Amino acid sequence: MDYLSKIDLTRTPEHIAIIMDGNGRWAKKQGHMRLYGHNFGVESVRETLKAAKELKVKYLTLYAFSTENWNRPKEEVDGLMDLLVKSLANEVKELSDSGVRLLAIGDIAGLPDACQNELQESIDLTKDNSEITMVLALNYSSRWEIVNAVKRIASEAKNETLDVNAIDATLFSSYLTTNQIPDPELLIRTSGEYRISNFLLWQVAYAEFHFTEVLWPDFKREDLFKAVLDYQSRERRFGMVSEQLT
Ligand code: FPP
Repeated sequence: MDYLSKIDLTRTPEHIAIIMDGNGRWAKKQGHMRLYGHNFGVESVRETLKAAKELKVKYLTLYAFSTENWNRPKEEVDGLMDLLVKSLANEVKELSDSGVRLLAIGDIAGLPDACQNELQESIDLTKDNSEITMVLALNYSSRWEIVNAVKRIASEAKNETLDVNAIDATLFSSYLTTNQIPDPELLIRTSGEYRISNFLLWQVAYAEFHFTEVLWPDFKREDLFKAVLDYQSRERRFGMVSEQLT
């Protein structure tokens, strides 16, 4: 089906976040090791980014590695870190030439040095681009991020550089790693799992959720368009009633 022609390009989300899930099952189905699936997942990242640009989406956030993912077998963790370094090295020139700005959220200091270095180089090289921002969530978990924000706020309140009465939702958001990034309007999770898995818990307060059975390595351009069409079919009420919406 031609989903693109049905999309209202004046009402696409500014920010789409994706929980890329199903690489392992995809690989297993073809009789391969899990890393085979992660490798193919990179192609889906490339396609999804291009499709998001077609829709004039300004932010695409991808959950690439959670703090819980360290508990996977060492071989898989090492393979994922290696894949990240290699993918960045291979793609950064094209990302840079095609207007993509790269950002990372998460506990970046906890990543291996090679990863941190490649990431920082890519971020620096693309920092002036403005067509779309691709945000990689790496060594990220929402509870980690929220606890960190609370600690900083508490310590500033304690030493009286922050007035407790000034604490509100806007101030709290500014202490999160996403402080430069608007909240996502659409959250997609692939592979038929219906969970948020510690991803952007604060930021998805008003996001629409789209769940698909498609495994991440099979997720292509049309799948993103389908998700955006689904998003456009929803009535976003933000706590109001239908009649109040214009
Ligand atoms: C979840 O599938 C996927 C991950 C934990 C890793 C996602 C990483 C990539 C797609 C590579 C990203 C690379 C760049 C450059 C952004 P899973 O392993 O949990 O699959 P399963 O649920 O089938 O086991």
